[in-house]
Amino acid sequence: MAKVYVFDHPLIQHKITFIRDKNTGTKEFRELVDEVATLMMYEITRDMQLQEIEVETPVSTAKSKVIAGKKLGIVPILRAGIGMVDGILNLIPTAKVGHIGLYRDPETLQPVEYYVKLPSDVEERDFILVDPMLATGGSAVAAIDSLKSRGAKHIKFMCLIAAPEGVEVMQKAHPDVDIYIAGLDDKLNEKGYIVPGLGDAGDRLFGTK
Ligand code: PRP
Ligand code: URA
Repeated sequence: MAKVYVFDHPLIQHKITFIRDKNTGTKEFRELVDEVATLMMYEITRDMQLQEIEVETPVSTAKSKVIAGKKLGIVPILRAGIGMVDGILNLIPTAKVGHIGLYRDPETLQPVEYYVKLPSDVEERDFILVDPMLATGGSAVAAIDSLKSRGAKHIKFMCLIAAPEGVEVMQKAHPDVDIYIAGLDDKLNEKGYIVPGLGDAGDRLFGTK
């Protein structure tokens, strides 16, 4: 069964409050999403493997550690996931970035895939799939299906706000994919929006409506 981690770091929780606030404008919303993505990435990478190397300091030789292990791939689900990419790359600038384009049909709430572009060495990378919202779970499940069908084997899913319904759907469909969340909310409403949530993440990030 996939594990679910809810990040309760005070800085993350503080910033999420202002992300939720309907009076937060596009510029500030975008900056806050960027900052929370950085902070979440810092937490998610705690289990990264290290290896020891030698460096010459101005004084002597030191044995010191650097990141080892697999290369990382970041995959935002378009379009709202784009808002989290720069914040992640601030910490891991060498990560490759793939894209999966999905939108939720407003009538059926089913995800419709319209674009996929991944790094060529998919099988050799650890992937972090990012999207601010996990609502019904349809988009995240479809994006992971898409990643796995192209050879991805190690995937984590990172989102800002999740509904319990979406978490359950994800855990059933992809028990091997751990979920990292900043806020676990109450429920979905009849239109498939997360309650209390933050509204439409894509519209708030890009100023559309
Ligand atoms: C939003 C959000 C997720 C999806 C979540 O995207 O960014 O991708 O809905 O809903 P689900 O869990 O019910 O699938 P949307 O379809 O609105 O597209 P956008 O990012 O282009 O605005
Ligand atoms: N997508 C969003 O952007 N917000 C929600 O509440 C649900 C899906």
